Amino acid sequence: MIQCEGLVKIYKADDLEVVALQGLNLSVKPGEMMAIIGNSGSGKSTLLNILGGLDRPSAGQVQVGPWNLLKVDDKDLVKYKRDTVGFIWQNNARNLLPFLTALENVEMPMMFSGKLDRAYAKQLLDWVGLKERMHNKLQQLSGGEQQRVAIAISLANKPQLLLADEPTGSVDSRTSDVIMDIFRRFNRELGLTIVIVTHDLSLAGKVDRVVAIRDGLTSTEFIKRNPNLDLSKPLSEGQSAEEIHEAFVVVDRVGRLQIPKEYLKALTIGDKATMEFDGDKIVITKPKSIEGDQPE
Ligand SMILES: Nc1ncnc2c1ncn2[C@@H]1O[C@H](COP(=O)(O)OP(=O)(O)OP(=O)(O)O)[C@@H](O)[C@H]1O
Ligand SMILES: [Mg+2]
Repeated sequence: MIQCEGLVKIYKADDLEVVALQGLNLSVKPGEMMAIIGNSGSGKSTLLNILGGLDRPSAGQVQVGPWNLLKVDDKDLVKYKRDTVGFIWQNNARNLLPFLTALENVEMPMMFSGKLDRAYAKQLLDWVGLKERMHNKLQQLSGGEQQRVAIAISLANKPQLLLADEPTGSVDSRTSDVIMDIFRRFNRELGLTIVIVTHDLSLAGKVDRVVAIRDGLTSTEFIKRNPNLDLSKPLSEGQSAEEIHEAFVVVDRVGRLQIPKEYLKALTIGDKATMEFDGDKIVITKPKSIEGDQPE
């Protein structure tokens, strides 16, 4: 569904250049429900905006289904945004029109694409648990309810891919669970591919795979060790998310991997290290004596 290779995004502001993505690789299968985690400023929203067609990549490859997002022209990009992908913004105000009712909000994207289907709009609001509130104005709804309207809106045009930037960022943990369950249902029942960006590690147990981004690169992947394990059930005592997600360092096509900064710091490795291969292990150590090789 998604294939990014060597994806680069550079923001230019005056004379300053920010490299938000520096050659990122990511691949997502159709029907997968996965999460992207990473510190603030690591490039999560940048990646999601590019996948959503809201921003253009600077270089590299990015393919979503049949769409090449580096080459697509503006006209096709509008079509892509309207038909292929649903988007839930980090800032809820961008998702919603406060002076309209929940139902009118869901119908809005349908009208833009000339396919108003009131029955389906009502159905979506029912699915997200807002059947009784669909005629309320958005400003009369709570934050969590508004977030659920945002989900319904993002699905109005039956996208194949749903991108959600911090969808549970501003709701309590119970509402967060409700939202994740809604995502899981759409994933299972409609076969929707879902990519969720989050700070919240506790969401990790609710998705099939977690990819960590560090400094604009995918660094680590956490993959469910036992795919038959039902992660929608609460963990039993003594069981932790680490026990069910196995961590892998990401190695790119040309063999590069990212060593966590803490490791480098702990061993005071600067810009050079020695690497030994002993037949079944690769050992990276601090060079014995290289002048000027100091960490920052
Ligand atoms: N429009 C922009 N112009 C210039 N720099 C930008 C722009 N958008 C983002 N950046 C920079 O790119 C980097 C990545 O930002 P991004 O918004 O993708 O981070 P994020 O991982 O989503 O962070 P957060 O968790 O805080 O939302 C940051 O250093 C940010 O300052
Ligand atoms: Mg962000």
